[in-house]
Amino acid sequence: MRKLAAGNWKMNGTAAALAEVSALAQAHPAPACDMLLCPPATLIARMADVARGTAIKVGGQDCHARSSGAHTGDISAEMLVDSGASHVILGHSERRTDHGETDAQVLAKAEAALKAGLIAIVCIGETEAERDAGRTLDVVGTQLHGSVPADATAANLVIAYEPVWAIGTGRTPTIAEIAEVHAFLRARLTARIGAAAADVPLLYGGSVKPSNATEIFAVPHVDGALVGGASLKAADFGAIVSAL
Ligand code: G3P
Repeated sequence: MRKLAAGNWKMNGTAAALAEVSALAQAHPAPACDMLLCPPATLIARMADVARGTAIKVGGQDCHARSSGAHTGDISAEMLVDSGASHVILGHSERRTDHGETDAQVLAKAEAALKAGLIAIVCIGETEAERDAGRTLDVVGTQLHGSVPADATAANLVIAYEPVWAIGTGRTPTIAEIAEVHAFLRARLTARIGAAAADVPLLYGGSVKPSNATEIFAVPHVDGALVGGASLKAADFGAIVSAL
């Protein structure tokens, strides 16, 4: 499987930030892994223009479950495709928390994404309280079961394990903790979609940076990263790309 370095710009970036995309493309014309950047919706089309003909793919950070209609402020999967996106992040913990998204809603969005031809990056992860209570595997197993479409395949699905308490905090789980969750997710996916699960990229996300990327990427069943803060600068993200 080709590994994936994905950047989630969250609510960061205006046109000036596109210079980072050009710099990244120039520094990594033929990376050993796939490179993806998911900017705010306002930048998708412009980033896609800058990324055209380079190794960088562009994705969205959310989509609506419907393809069109009276949903002020929302964006459909078809609109993402039309803007030049190939992927969409769904069920990020910030959306689950800030917008109350449930597994059922994430599932509906993921189904819409697959129907539109996007690759769905479904995010799952436990809170600190859930980890402290020894419920991590239970929580991520339930989220995986509830958020992944029945017709997902290795060609249209990416899973991102992002412990909520590791996002933007500088804290990361131990290598053993990441290994435990990723092995569990691979086994659960195998039970669900069979041998094809071996080719579904399992990303780790949460305070990934150039200084810890090599160690995290050496963990079995870690097939890349979903990177927040360190994806905003070409030099940092490029160093993570080089570590894969
Ligand atoms: O989706 C990526 C993310 O939530 C991790 O953010 O800033 O901890 O790398 P960060």
